[in-house]
Amino acid sequence: MIQIAIDGPAGAGKSTVAKEVARRLGINYLDTGAMYRAMAVAVLRRGIEISDHAKVKEALAGIKITVRYTQQEQRVLANGEDLTDFLRTPEATKGSSDIAVIPAVRLELVAIQREVARQYDIVMDGRDIGTYVLPDAKAKFFVVASVKERARRRYLELKKNGVERPLEQLEAEIAARDKTDTEREFAPLRQAADAVLVDTTNMDIDEVVSFVMQKVKEAYPDDL
Ligand code: DC
Repeated sequence: MIQIAIDGPAGAGKSTVAKEVARRLGINYLDTGAMYRAMAVAVLRRGIEISDHAKVKEALAGIKITVRYTQQEQRVLANGEDLTDFLRTPEATKGSSDIAVIPAVRLELVAIQREVARQYDIVMDGRDIGTYVLPDAKAKFFVVASVKERARRRYLELKKNGVERPLEQLEAEIAARDKTDTEREFAPLRQAADAVLVDTTNMDIDEVVSFVMQKVKEAYPDDL
């Protein structure tokens, strides 16, 4: 089975690269961040504050996250309700990072992620794919870019969608998320020993995809 792990901090371009690599190889792509986002939205909708870890854990038994694909696009559902369109709000973004520190949440979502990788060849992106979810993946990447560059890309992306946010605010949000994701105890964001570091600060998307594709072919010479 082909397992490609793409990890890195928020906004480094992981999902764009992962999607394109999956498309070129004709295999599935799993955005694991969307699963943490969906969990956060489902919990917030129950009126629970994510800082109340005991309440979140209590609620977990009643929240079943599933992933589906429609026309190659990933949809994430909680108890059958499609939450995909609600995953990119500032609340869902901060909530996902905050809820991801809770081990019980991670164990639940990691089990689903591993099951997907058992069934399909997969490109998976997240924070702990190479270190924890798929430690045996033969192709692992750690995609980074400076905080300034990540905030700049986010600024342009939002602007394109008609939303104007101060650059400094975006920079502060990204730095805060880096801190939460890196400093949590259970499966924090870090580069796996056998992952290839890709600094995209001065690379465009085509360059990154070509580089990753080359490494993937070297890692799976018999399968591709
Ligand atoms: O990739 P993203 O920005 O959509 O992820 C949202 C949050 O989910 C991120 O800040 C931390 C958490 N996350 C995680 O802890 N582990 C993963 N494998 C993916 C995401």
